[in-house]
Amino acid sequence: LTVDQKALLESAIRDIPDFPKPGIIFKDITTLLNNAEAFSTLMTHLKTRYESYNLDFVAGIDARGFIFGAALAQMLGVGFVPIRKKGKLPSTTVSEKYSLEYGFDEVEVHMDAFGSDKGAKVLLIDDLIATGGTAKAAASLIEKVGAHCVEACFILGLEFLPGIDSLTELTPVYTVIGV
Ligand code: PRP
Ligand code: MG
Repeated sequence: LTVDQKALLESAIRDIPDFPKPGIIFKDITTLLNNAEAFSTLMTHLKTRYESYNLDFVAGIDARGFIFGAALAQMLGVGFVPIRKKGKLPSTTVSEKYSLEYGFDEVEVHMDAFGSDKGAKVLLIDDLIATGGTAKAAASLIEKVGAHCVEACFILGLEFLPGIDSLTELTPVYTVIGV
C-alpha cells in the first residue's frame, strides 16, 4: 500500500465511542465497505498479496470476516469457507470454544469444507483481531479438520492487545492497518 492508500483506508474506518459499552471505541468498517474506492483499494491490495500463495481456500470468520473473505476468494479464483458461530451450519461440524470477557463462545466449520485431500492451503481472514480468541479458535479448527492455515489476515489489528503475538504461535499473521 502507498502512503496515500493507507491514509484512504484509515480515514474510511469510523470510530464510534462507547459502543457496545462505555469506554470501548468501536472500529466501524461499514464506512469502508460503502466507500467504493476504499473497498476496491483494500481488495486489490489483498489480491496482489495473496495471488502468489497458491491458496486452495479462503476461510472467513462469522460475520464480518465473510464480507472480505468471500470477495477475496472470488478474486483469487478459490473456494470460500465460512467459519460460523455455533448452531448455524447444517452438516457435520467440528467446533472449538474460546473465552470471552464473561463466559465463552464457540465457532464451527463443516468437517468436509476443505475437501478430502489433507493439507489444503487456507488463508484465514477477519475484519479485526483484538484478544485473538476468535482467530485462535478458527485457526485451530482449520488444522483440526486436516487443512493448513498458511496465514491469518486482518484488516485491523489492535496492537495494544496481546492477540497478534499469541496467534503468531499458531500461524503467521498479517494486518493491513495497525491501531
Ligand atoms: C468481532 C470481530 C472479530 C472478533 C475479534 O466479532 O469482528 O471477529 O470480534 O475479537 P477477539 O480478537 O477478541 O476474539 P464479533 O464476534 O463481535 O461479531 P461479528 O463479526 O459477528 O459482528
Ligand atoms: Mg467478528
